[in-house]
Amino acid sequence: MTALTLSTSSAAALRADAVVVGVTKGTKGPEVAPGAEAVDQAFDGRLAATLETLGASGAEGEVTKLPAPAGLKAPVVLAVGLGEAPADGAGFDTEVLRKAAGVAARTLAGSKKAALALPVEDAAAAQAVAEGALLGAYAYTAYQAGNGKAPLTEVALVGAKPRDKAYKAAAERATVVAEEVNRSRDLINMPPNDLTPKAFAAFVQEAAKEYGLKVEVLDEKALVKGGYGGIMGVGQGSANPPRLVKIVHNGGKGRDAKHLALVGKGITYDSGGISLKPAGHNETMKCDMSGAAAVFSTVVAAARLGLPVTVTGWLALAENMPSGAAARPGDVLRMYSGKTVEVLNTDAEGRLVMADAITRASEETPDAIIDVATLTGAMVLALGTRIFGVMSNDDDFRTAVHETAGEVGEQSWPMPLPADLRKAMDSATADIANMGERMGGGLAAGLFLKEFVGEGITWAHVDIAGPAFNESGPFGYTPKGGTGSAVRTLVRLAEKAAEGELFQ
Ligand code: BES
Ligand code: MN
Ligand code: ZN
Repeated sequence: MTALTLSTSSAAALRADAVVVGVTKGTKGPEVAPGAEAVDQAFDGRLAATLETLGASGAEGEVTKLPAPAGLKAPVVLAVGLGEAPADGAGFDTEVLRKAAGVAARTLAGSKKAALALPVEDAAAAQAVAEGALLGAYAYTAYQAGNGKAPLTEVALVGAKPRDKAYKAAAERATVVAEEVNRSRDLINMPPNDLTPKAFAAFVQEAAKEYGLKVEVLDEKALVKGGYGGIMGVGQGSANPPRLVKIVHNGGKGRDAKHLALVGKGITYDSGGISLKPAGHNETMKCDMSGAAAVFSTVVAAARLGLPVTVTGWLALAENMPSGAAARPGDVLRMYSGKTVEVLNTDAEGRLVMADAITRASEETPDAIIDVATLTGAMVLALGTRIFGVMSNDDDFRTAVHETAGEVGEQSWPMPLPADLRKAMDSATADIANMGERMGGGLAAGLFLKEFVGEGITWAHVDIAGPAFNESGPFGYTPKGGTGSAVRTLVRLAEKAAEGELFQ
């Protein structure tokens, strides 16, 4: 993991392999962004002109590498585009800073230490730059014999005041958040032959020990005994049996303390089951546990940040495989809630495991339940690969989740739960079928889950099927592969719950 430091020395004096500066798009060409004054001086004030000669414009995403002049300790200067400069008095957009720092950190893979001389005029900007750098430096190399470029070992923020309380807190928060997003990415990227439900549960137990969290694991015997027909129905076809894991950060002491329950889809591999996915649709299905990874990371982050709120995570872990023991299309499962479900398509497995976990989470009457799942291909068709969908039984809560995501730089969009889609899920033999109309499939899945939410409980459903796994090239601070989608949103929601901003 890349280390973060706040440095008091100037960007010119700092010993590093590269110094990173920001460039904005001015009306008459590129301009050096605040924070890089010392670097510009080393260029005799000609840094912007030099960059322009090299073809730089200051556009977002742009990187320009140039040799450093004599006055700098670092041998290389890396200029990253920040787009148009903000209006007078306004700060840079935090997501622009996060992305620029991410691009810089990724570009500098293979070097050891980077000095970031980006605009960090307040603690919020410093936090964004730090997060972006730590997220952008990420690489998954656990199964490679070191032939790739190693991530940066250290990033030093220049211009952030190390003795200022707000900057210190920002650095601390950025480190925890980025490390927990990266924990999710590691789990998502881990091959499914190694990340079985049992192995996932063991990782949770290990982290729980490290951070003093309470954890409970129900194994297949306990799941049968407890009547978890949804989780067992999905997991019964696999040689790697299912688990339901509960992990608790008990920060909510005192009478007004709030309780947020998070439920994550943890299908460690989704083959589709008997309704087998065709080739071309199963190569990335190790990512189908991204919701559970996000929930796990969030509970650990809440503990590390010491948030005064109780956050309970429920991880519904199973492997969806075809076999002689697998559930068949036509089977009826008796769910943990007592409802019966006709399995029309074994590839609609996420809603089955999630339904049981949501019912179980509801028994503790939390102030709200948020479930996170790579639930439907339909949501990817609707919103693309960078935006997650948010549904809820409460319009204000859906708005809160959507707006919170925006504040931390995650793209989301509110989606409806139209009641008329329920009719298509009527079953001739059971209370409900696990599939309805194909059109609006993401909304139908949400409607299905809604029936398992306890009476009177505020609930939101977050479908991250699009952004959870990046199949194309890296961009901003987002790597190829597991992205850690939803972690930052969930952590911010937990903070808001702790601050009394989420529920009254
Ligand atoms: N895990 C998939 C959804 C998915 C698709 C996640 C693409 C990430 C990327 C889910 O279990 C699934 O197979 N859903 C089906 C449901 C259908 C059979 C009703 C789908 O969306 O096609
Ligand atoms: Mn599936
Ligand atoms: Zn799935």
